[in-house]
Amino acid sequence: MQIKPSEVKPRDFYRVLISAIAPRPIAWVSTLSKEGIANLAPFSFFNALCGTPPLLGFCPGIRAREIREALGSPLKDTLQNIRETGEFVVAVVTNDLVERMNITAGDYEASLDEFALAGVTPRASQVVRPSQVAESPVNFECKVYQLVDFGTETSGGSLVIGEIVAANISDTVMVDGKIEGNLLELVGRMGGNQYSRTTDRFELARPPLVVPQK
Ligand SMILES: Cc1cc2nc3c(=O)[nH]c(=O)nc-3n(C[C@H](O)[C@H](O)[C@H](O)COP(=O)(O)O)c2cc1C
Repeated sequence: MQIKPSEVKPRDFYRVLISAIAPRPIAWVSTLSKEGIANLAPFSFFNALCGTPPLLGFCPGIRAREIREALGSPLKDTLQNIRETGEFVVAVVTNDLVERMNITAGDYEASLDEFALAGVTPRASQVVRPSQVAESPVNFECKVYQLVDFGTETSGGSLVIGEIVAANISDTVMVDGKIEGNLLELVGRMGGNQYSRTTDRFELARPPLVVPQK
């Protein structure tokens, strides 16, 4: 079967995308409005983009019509805040945090503080103004490196590329000065409301360098 994006409803192709490109890591993004109201929301169109400079990226989409009509703005609060302040923090999501992460995915008025709503503890950052999620073992403080807008004003999205200016890592996941991945218990998002745990791990050695014969 072949599905052409141009021949199906956007929502249906979105389902193809998020089912087939999985599991996706989840960025739990903390921002502050220009008035200083805290916001926290998850984004799974997310990944590490570059080691040097250290970049990560995530994509807030334009709000669905009924939500933008109800809340009075096409932009998700996260993107609005980042446009206004240029700063954000990405916390990673572990098994014990998924329910609280999910609470912060609701479509709430900008005046609502999702830290309080979800019962997670804001911890002051060192370099940027938005708070970290104290319960998460890794929080990346970021400044905007580049914003790329795509689509239209009613159906597009934006790629937020952030430069990591500080990584805050809990001692509980550090062994000999390095992150021990087996201690992290990260979750990934699959299609729909399905998630995956990263408990079944294995190693695979890379092919050795084969030097071309001259
Ligand atoms: C696990 C998960 C991943 C999500 N990923 C995205 C995403 O990549 N892009 C997006 O626009 N919304 C995504 N959402 C929905 C947003 O979290 C939701 O629209 C939220 O209300 C945005 O909050 P804000 O308006 O405070 O920024 C995701 C939701 C969940 C539960």
